[in-house]
Amino acid sequence: MREILVLHGPNLNLLGQREPQVYGTMTLDEINQRLIAEGQRLGIGVRCLQSNSEGALIDALQEARNWASGVIFNPGGYTHTSVALRDAVAAIGIPVIEVHLSNVYAREEFRHRSLLSAVCWGKILGLGWKSYWLALHAFALYFEEEETR
Ligand code: DQA
Repeated sequence: MREILVLHGPNLNLLGQREPQVYGTMTLDEINQRLIAEGQRLGIGVRCLQSNSEGALIDALQEARNWASGVIFNPGGYTHTSVALRDAVAAIGIPVIEVHLSNVYAREEFRHRSLLSAVCWGKILGLGWKSYWLALHAFALYFEEEETR
């Protein structure tokens, strides 16, 4: 069975309490449970991990190279600052979809720039928890296409 990593960056452990007008009221655990259940329906194993630390996120990306067929990644605030995370995404050689809950383009200007987008396979944003959901479905279609090729 194909497996994917759903990787959440800093402060996303506070979802549900953190600026609900921006990020919604669903907790990280609820989002993860939905993705795991939908993964089961689609025949994709979903492993979820959150860290506030840049180094731990880099370790998780590097390790994913050994077992995952893809990564759904919300880098949180590191999106706008981290050369090291960009380099990790570029290094691992598996497709990564960048996701954001909020529409970063409708927010402060410093959020308009992502250091990661150019090395990601694709990007989905602004749709709340459904950004992750659509990324999972994009992987399902991609795996299906790969298998029939
Ligand atoms: C975010 C957007 C980032 O700008 C912010 O720093 C976050 C969350 C989002 O999912 O909308 O922590 O990645």
